[in-house]
Amino acid sequence: MRIFDSHAHYDDEAFESDRVELLGKILPEKGVWRVVNCGASLEGSERSLQLSREYPYIYAAVGVHPEEAAGLPPDWLDRIRQMAAGEKVVAIGEIGLDYHYEDACPREEQKRVFEEQLRLANELCLPVIVHDREAHGDTMELLRRYRPRGVVHCFSGSAEMAREVVALGMYIGLGGVVTFKNARHSVETAASIPIERLLTETDAPYMAPVPLRGKRNDSSLIPFSATKIGLCRGLSCEEVLEWGCRNACTLFGLPFEETSP
Ligand code: NI
Repeated sequence: MRIFDSHAHYDDEAFESDRVELLGKILPEKGVWRVVNCGASLEGSERSLQLSREYPYIYAAVGVHPEEAAGLPPDWLDRIRQMAAGEKVVAIGEIGLDYHYEDACPREEQKRVFEEQLRLANELCLPVIVHDREAHGDTMELLRRYRPRGVVHCFSGSAEMAREVVALGMYIGLGGVVTFKNARHSVETAASIPIERLLTETDAPYMAPVPLRGKRNDSSLIPFSATKIGLCRGLSCEEVLEWGCRNACTLFGLPFEETSP
């Protein structure tokens, strides 16, 4: 069994006390094969790069999250562009729209910052890692316009929206939410998308799956979500995990070997 976590935030302060032991020992021992650590701010993107230098199995995404999009310095996009040249950077992310936390940054400003990063990703031929919370209409409008490669992570839209994301050539990231009791949309999506467009993810430290909902999440808990996704499709947990590895390697341009290391 091997696990590809396509979306984690190990630079988060929730990992301050035990990061070295967790990343250096515990996760690899539990089958965590590769992780994409997503930056959420300029500082977080720097930390993401740093983690990718320290741990062979960690790759980096760099970008500005919609909640961090207010009050950026004038050179913010150049800084993202510079960081994106890093050796193990595989995506621009986490970027997108979040109308739940509109107070953190007004919608128009969020859209501007998202669009500039969509353009940057296309210019650099990098995939994007998209955050969409309560902003499905505007997110889809921008994805239709820019047609990036990439993934809509922690997917919360309808099965119909999932079909359109897939038709645009993008991937869908599913994590702990599929195990939640009220996750009707996620379960429909898990059951209906082509398996070759599914990415496994955590959003660690957030979104821990049942039975650990509310606790700190990490990549070793992905089998709980993979089991649930498998139940929706008549696949085993291991088969879902292996698809997760295969698909993420395809999207992020990483080598995929059949056997575990
Ligand atoms: Ni995230």
